[in-house]
Amino acid sequence: MEIPQRFSLLFIFFFSIAALGGLSAYNNEQDSTIKTMEEFSGYPIHEPHFPNSVSSLSVDTLSLQKQIDELSTFSDSPAPSVTRVLYSEKDVVARRYVKDLMSRSGLSVREDAVGNIFGRWNGYEPELAPVATGSHIDAIPFSGKYDGVIGVLGAIEAINVLNRSGFKPKRSLEVIMFTSEEPTRFGISCLGSRLMAGSVELAKLLKKTVDGQNISFADAAKSAGYGNALDFSSVLLKKGSYSAFIELHIEQGPLLEEEALPIGVVTAIAAPASIKVDFEGNGGHAGAVLMPKRNDAGLAATELALAVEKHVLDSGSIDTVGTVGILELHPGAINSIPSKSHLEIDTRDIDEKRRNDVVEKIRESALSISEKRRVKVSEFKIVNQDPPALSDESIIRATESACRELNLSYKKMISRAYHDSLFMARISPMGMIFIPCYKGYSHKPEEFAGVEDIANGVKVLAFTLAKLSLS
Ligand code: GLV
Ligand code: MN
Ligand code: MN
Repeated sequence: MEIPQRFSLLFIFFFSIAALGGLSAYNNEQDSTIKTMEEFSGYPIHEPHFPNSVSSLSVDTLSLQKQIDELSTFSDSPAPSVTRVLYSEKDVVARRYVKDLMSRSGLSVREDAVGNIFGRWNGYEPELAPVATGSHIDAIPFSGKYDGVIGVLGAIEAINVLNRSGFKPKRSLEVIMFTSEEPTRFGISCLGSRLMAGSVELAKLLKKTVDGQNISFADAAKSAGYGNALDFSSVLLKKGSYSAFIELHIEQGPLLEEEALPIGVVTAIAAPASIKVDFEGNGGHAGAVLMPKRNDAGLAATELALAVEKHVLDSGSIDTVGTVGILELHPGAINSIPSKSHLEIDTRDIDEKRRNDVVEKIRESALSISEKRRVKVSEFKIVNQDPPALSDESIIRATESACRELNLSYKKMISRAYHDSLFMARISPMGMIFIPCYKGYSHKPEEFAGVEDIANGVKVLAFTLAKLSLS
């Protein structure tokens, strides 16, 4: 923002005080003076003013990298892979680690009934809706250490960056660590943000949700220290609870690296859907039952997997994708014809209708395969079929201007992966910042983001948060 000449001296004065470490000490009495000066000048005098521009926005890359590495050790699989499943022992330790970092950054920490963790830096107008940022730290089996993590640890560091620069937020700033962005344990993606964004159905569903070991969600939550109330509707937030939400994340695709761009400004998030299918046949002895007599549930599943690929390719768009990431056969013995099979199918598109058409075709194929192979479809369940989300124009603009001021080139892009932002967009204007990752690798141990790229993302996040806090 343009600062009139006569106020620039005032800025220098304030930031000199901050540099001497005095700003936080005289907060309260100064707040009313600041307010008066703002009213008089018509300008927010806490506009982040970074006298030496980029150099004064210093990211502590050493500490941040150390934190990323430390967090990755809370894993149920060997390094370099990371496996951190919701409410597991490792997840609980990792949560403690995040809460501790939040506290050490001066944030006031609270948690809700499913373990979404909030760390708030109170603004000098705390009655205004806060600006939020955050992501997740759960990790799918044998994945990497950056997915979600840089959006949590990076957000805490963004707060530190602003603190060190002497900035003081007008709207409160809040870092959120969302519970279970990954669907690994209970099959529900973005569980924490989906619930927070007002899914009453999910609050009801959670009461009877169980994991693969038949452990109820409520019991699992309790074992991790949450969910005593059994009423998860307390997690729901009203629209307008936040004035803005912005998430920092690795791209999980190759474009930024290929184009040598440090930042991606996300304009939209593709629409994900997931489906569970169970087939049942008679099974039997692998030697004794002759081929014409069989109704093999395993072959039905594999035929459906190929049908998923066909329907996705038939859409004619490169933006339509489909994956069968889980395929289980029962009883799972080499000399037994599978009597049961279970598939979990993930399909996404930036075009919701085209994605819905694929879901419908998958349903038709499941039925026709079951007829042809004389197996039963014992379950066809659309677990979620979410619409896409658009980023908010004002957040896109704030992020773009942060990039320009930091002299970082960027491109606008869509997110093909889903994120907690998909759901936060239901209750708040939303935006996302992407940074490059090695070859676009993600959801595998080779996932990697360079510390300079992470630092750039943290700076853009910090600057954008500062702007949004003052708006
Ligand atoms: C998120 O983890 C996704 O699968 O897009
Ligand atoms: Mn992920
Ligand atoms: Mn993620």
